[in-house]
Amino acid sequence: METKTDRTVLITGAAGGMCRGINARLGAAGHTVLCADLSLDAAQSAAQSVRDAGGRAEAFAVDVSSHESVAALVDAVHERVGGVDALVNAAGILDRKYLADHDATSFERTIDINLIGPFRMIQAFAPEMIERRWGRIINISSIAGVTGYPYPSYAASKAGLSNLARSLVIDFWGTGVTVNSICPGVVDTPMVIQEIRDQVPRKVPTEQIIDPDEIGGVASFLLSDDAKNINGADILIDGGATRYFQLFDRP
Ligand SMILES: NC(=O)c1ccc[n+]([C@@H]2O[C@H](COP(=O)([O-])OP(=O)(O)OC[C@H]3O[C@@H](n4cnc5c(N)ncnc54)[C@H](O)[C@@H]3O)[C@@H](O)[C@H]2O)c1
Repeated sequence: METKTDRTVLITGAAGGMCRGINARLGAAGHTVLCADLSLDAAQSAAQSVRDAGGRAEAFAVDVSSHESVAALVDAVHERVGGVDALVNAAGILDRKYLADHDATSFERTIDINLIGPFRMIQAFAPEMIERRWGRIINISSIAGVTGYPYPSYAASKAGLSNLARSLVIDFWGTGVTVNSICPGVVDTPMVIQEIRDQVPRKVPTEQIIDPDEIGGVASFLLSDDAKNINGADILIDGGATRYFQLFDRP
């Protein structure tokens, strides 16, 4: 089967740093990019960047932590573009709190946005993919979802997100819908503080900070027909950072 490059792809967190690369690569490939983020202005500016580069894009507002907001997004998407073929769950927050710093609601807030948010989005948009017998769901997890990590709310949310994808392959059995996690390491976005950037040459075997465009390249591949049997995977894009025994420093 030939790969179709004119899918309609809904992306949450589309105004964020990583999505600059995802929006651009999917737009350049010919897909219609639906940019959804908390602020409609920010989503509009992300969509405009895709259009400025010659691609097709629309903007939507959504708060993935609100069931009502996700339901309103479903209506808005159906009214304006008819439906979606693929969903990229990239909206997320990183709360740099250790165990003792959490109050009664802060841990839950991260879980609500990073884990239940994608669950709400998948529940809202998967039925139409199943009906059309083709769909791609890509969750932007993290290396924090596959190893221990200093901030427990983020680590737990991303580990949950990766296991959500692994588990949903059973739900989507025989439907034509696949669900995978991209697990980036240190990507060049505002989310990454200078202290972490400075450590890259010592902690990452490729000695490189990852460009958002590389994440977009993998997302684009996951939409292709060559990726149709990649399902329930954690795709690490971390320069090898999680693949060596951390007690050893580089030679
Ligand atoms: N930057 C990295 O190194 C890195 C590494 C691994 C994973 N990630 C993950 O990649 C994704 C994108 O990260 P980024 O670096 O672009 O961060 P970012 O802060 O630049 O972007 C996150 C986007 O999510 C949006 N958002 C936050 N809460 C939302 C909500 N409730 N509803 C809708 N949108 C919401 C924000 O408005 C923002 O535009 C996140 O899920 C993050 O956890 C980032």
